[in-house]
Amino acid sequence: MNDTAPRVINDSLSPHDFSRLGAIIQDHCGIRMPPTKRTMVEGRLRRRVRALKLASMHDYCRYVLDEGALDSELVNLIDAVTTNKTDFFREIEHFRFLNERGLDALSRLPHHPGKDRPLKCWSAACSTGAEPYTLAMLLHEHARAQSSFRFDIIATDICTEVLATAKLGIYPADMAGMIPKAIASRYVRRSRDREDPTIRLVPQIRQSVRFGHLNLMDADYPVATDMDVIFFRNILIYFDKPTQKAVLHRLCRHLRPGGFLFVGHSETIANMDLPLTQVASAIFVRS
Ligand SMILES: C[S@@+](CC[C@H](N)C(=O)[O-])C[C@H]1O[C@@H](n2cnc3c(N)ncnc32)[C@H](O)[C@@H]1O
Repeated sequence: MNDTAPRVINDSLSPHDFSRLGAIIQDHCGIRMPPTKRTMVEGRLRRRVRALKLASMHDYCRYVLDEGALDSELVNLIDAVTTNKTDFFREIEHFRFLNERGLDALSRLPHHPGKDRPLKCWSAACSTGAEPYTLAMLLHEHARAQSSFRFDIIATDICTEVLATAKLGIYPADMAGMIPKAIASRYVRRSRDREDPTIRLVPQIRQSVRFGHLNLMDADYPVATDMDVIFFRNILIYFDKPTQKAVLHRLCRHLRPGGFLFVGHSETIANMDLPLTQVASAIFVRS
């Protein structure tokens, strides 16, 4: 710690402060904040207490909640509480489905996405980018076999830190283990420096994804309404039921009839009155 920083006297987050912060977080980004998350949040916010050279967690809460710093601190607060776990080819069945059935079904829809116009894909909670970059690798592979095939991928998240990482396209080397070898050999580079424990995606892949900040709690999304594919995976679990339902209804407005919605394998969207029909595990088609 910086020598000039005040000594930390009491570094715990009181239940009262936690519930005030939690209410703001849930209201802003939909993430449920039950009391069981207090220790996790406390741990993650310590970094902010130190960065701001505050003496304690209590001072941090006073600064954010009572002294008018909420607007400037909200980004950091959200960065601190979001769970960003992701991986390349995570839940690989989804990518198999797209490759073996989905792309063919989509190509038969009006406007022949991929042929007459680019196939439009959206990774709606993209974290550090492994999900949209996996899509990019898969679609570039498809384009190798069908040279006229074109696609657009947008990828959004609420967390600014993960978006910055995503744009770089540099990852810990162990994340390459999930990428099939033939694909990795085309799209992933290891550093020449053997001591460097990172991998880098080739420019062709990095340039295939447009990243942007988007809060799924917003009433409207500045995104096309004729998406062919939406990945919305491993985020529903953080929302309560009414939020899940509201976000899913909004996402459906952006999915064209016949387009596919992918959710996480552990997530359920039953009884939400959505214009969707299930076609495989955690895969739905827009009616
Ligand atoms: C566990 S990651 C999932 C990443 C990826 N979809 C996957 O399955 O590997 C969940 C992501 O949702 C993002 N998130 C949470 N609340 C959000 C919101 N209200 N709007 C947009 N993104 C949000 C988090 O920042 C985090 O990066």
